[in-house]
Amino acid sequence: RSTRSMRLAVIPGDGIGPEVVAQGLRVLTAVLPSDVKLETREYDLGARRWHATGETLPDAELASLKEHDAILLGAVGDPSVPSGVLERGLLLKLRFAFDHYVNLRPSRLFPGTAGPLAGTPRIDFVVVREGTEGPYTGNGGSLRTGTPAEVATEVSVNTAYGVERVVRDAYARAQARPRKRLTLVHKDNVLVHAGRLWKDTFDRVGREFPAVTTDYLHVDAATIFMVTRPERFDVIVTDNLFGDILTDLAAAVTGGIGLAASGNINPDGSFPSMFEPVHGSAPDIAGTGTADPTATVLSVALLLRHLGYEAEAVRVETAVAEDLAARDGAAPRTTEETGAALVARVTA
Ligand code: NAI
Ligand code: MG
Repeated sequence: RSTRSMRLAVIPGDGIGPEVVAQGLRVLTAVLPSDVKLETREYDLGARRWHATGETLPDAELASLKEHDAILLGAVGDPSVPSGVLERGLLLKLRFAFDHYVNLRPSRLFPGTAGPLAGTPRIDFVVVREGTEGPYTGNGGSLRTGTPAEVATEVSVNTAYGVERVVRDAYARAQARPRKRLTLVHKDNVLVHAGRLWKDTFDRVGREFPAVTTDYLHVDAATIFMVTRPERFDVIVTDNLFGDILTDLAAAVTGGIGLAASGNINPDGSFPSMFEPVHGSAPDIAGTGTADPTATVLSVALLLRHLGYEAEAVRVETAVAEDLAARDGAAPRTTEETGAALVARVTA
């Protein structure tokens, strides 16, 4: 067989980022078919880099990252860095530069995991969050800053083009799933202008997907159902801000932040997509070797699926499901032990 390659950019980041990424790479290496040549290149970006040089994401590194098939990120940030510096200067900059308009966040309640909804049958949904518009574009400013008369705006940007492409992606994902159900989440009774654009686009694009059953929920109602009837959800499509909040709630009700994976996806493949655990750098446990690498390993599964390695992605997800079931009630493990257990399962 001819040799295939996977060129992977790795941003370990800060805190537990490097610890969990190391385990993610172990599992990736173990599961990849032997004819695939994995080439990784590490990038030193995040709080440590910013403290050392004042840089967040220099253009040369952005250009170099672009030459990869995908990016694996641990977590960046530290309380010592002012709020917004790394979010805007690194994470959002990457999402916008690489047009990551689909922020994909699967939520599954695996048997054996603890949490407020443990035992609920079939929590298995995916949130498709718009990634490049909404209130996150930096379209705003302040006047008379720091005075009692300060004025601040943060304008939510919604374009017909941007809404349609993410809605279309969500329909396609819903159509490919057994239940074929898609819920639009917005707040169209109050945010009437953006709400109308989302709702009209959702209805119009839906005519091309007659097999998909649809419904609509206001975001506040969606938070209630996510706790009281999470099994009703299959695929959810929503804007950048609602998606940010909803997916943290989704992580909390499905086994916690140590299991939540995400992909920042450019579906057209014009730019590398980026995969990362939802959690941050967890400075409170960094260096203790106790961080759970599972969210990173599940992000590796999303990466594999995105690059066309479906069988390998399923193997990783199956390994995680089996490992979580086997862990039930057992003593806590180290980051390294969990990585080793998952490697053993994917290679078994
Ligand atoms: P966090 O997710 O880092 O930590 C929240 C809590 O969850 C902590 O108690 C932590 O110990 C625990 N936790 C997180 N990941 C875990 C894991 N894999 N295993 C076990 N426990 C885990 O959120 P926090 O504390 O709000 O933020 C810490 C730093 O991370 C901040 O500088 C923040 O800006 C940054 N951050 C970065 C993100 C990214 O890189 N995408 C996302 C969220 C936060
Ligand atoms: Mg968040």
